[in-house]
Amino acid sequence: MPARPIIIDTDPGQDDAVAILVALASPAELEVLAVTTVAGNVPLALTSENARKIRDLAGRPEVPVYAGCPRPILRPLRTAEKVHGPTGLDGADLPPPRAPLAEGHAVDFIVEALRAHPEPVTLATMGPLTNVALALIKAPDIAGRVREIVMMGGAVRGGNVTPVAEFNVYVDPHAARVVFESGVPIVMHGLDVTHKVITTPERLAAIRAIGTPVAEAAAGLLAFYDRRDLERYGAPGGPLHDPCVIAYLLAPGLFAGRRVHVAVVTDEGPALGQTVADWWGTTGRAPNALVVDRVDADGFYALLTERLARL
Ligand code: RIB
Ligand code: CA
Repeated sequence: MPARPIIIDTDPGQDDAVAILVALASPAELEVLAVTTVAGNVPLALTSENARKIRDLAGRPEVPVYAGCPRPILRPLRTAEKVHGPTGLDGADLPPPRAPLAEGHAVDFIVEALRAHPEPVTLATMGPLTNVALALIKAPDIAGRVREIVMMGGAVRGGNVTPVAEFNVYVDPHAARVVFESGVPIVMHGLDVTHKVITTPERLAAIRAIGTPVAEAAAGLLAFYDRRDLERYGAPGGPLHDPCVIAYLLAPGLFAGRRVHVAVVTDEGPALGQTVADWWGTTGRAPNALVVDRVDADGFYALLTERLARL
């Protein structure tokens, strides 16, 4: 099977970083055309620097990194330094990027790459959907050139920023609504599945036991990232959100879900950013997303560990 062409849109972020490492460790399955960055966990300048640091750590300097949107479409930017640290990559002391950003805006790259590629391209999104939404608005013709959008975002039962909203959707709910209403096939990995992959001490130790600089960095990133979740969720580790996107692309059989209609709430108020999944078909609206809610967690971590060991 030829490698699947993908664009990774991301706001690194420790969990984004591990996802990018796993993707770059899998060139036989995933042709990463580029990494595009967006403001989210930390401001754009930092997400763009962090993406290049991770690219260097993976030993893949040829993968271009394009900077995208520095703020959501309408809402003010909300970042998450209290989770990710002031750099967005706290937990690993990585050297400065060896190469600059690629020339041009991420939104323009996404449009041009989708128009030019001989086959439909998969968008693997791990942050607010601002870049993807603006690309779809700027060039509606690209909707037919997207194989699918495999995202980390949303939540059916319970948010992590408000009682109902997940961070990536909450930061830019208007962008998320554009994407969910675009007609492009969507695979949504929300908190319902990401909270079923918990980085327990045993799983973290297995990654650290790989004994390579990449594994040491990944373990350090995850240990830092998990520190708040331990007391917050009372689980033996933190949920590992963004790597679900890449694991799904590599091994979809590890996951299961249901095709349902998902609407995004953009009204100001307590439900802002909620992804309303019509789980029982009460609206009669046609499904627009595969909402993933089940995962083989042991298989997930075995895959991550095996791929990280390749770098
Ligand atoms: O809610 C989790 C998501 O928000 C993840 O993508 C994490 O990196 C943050 O961006
Ligand atoms: Ca992210």
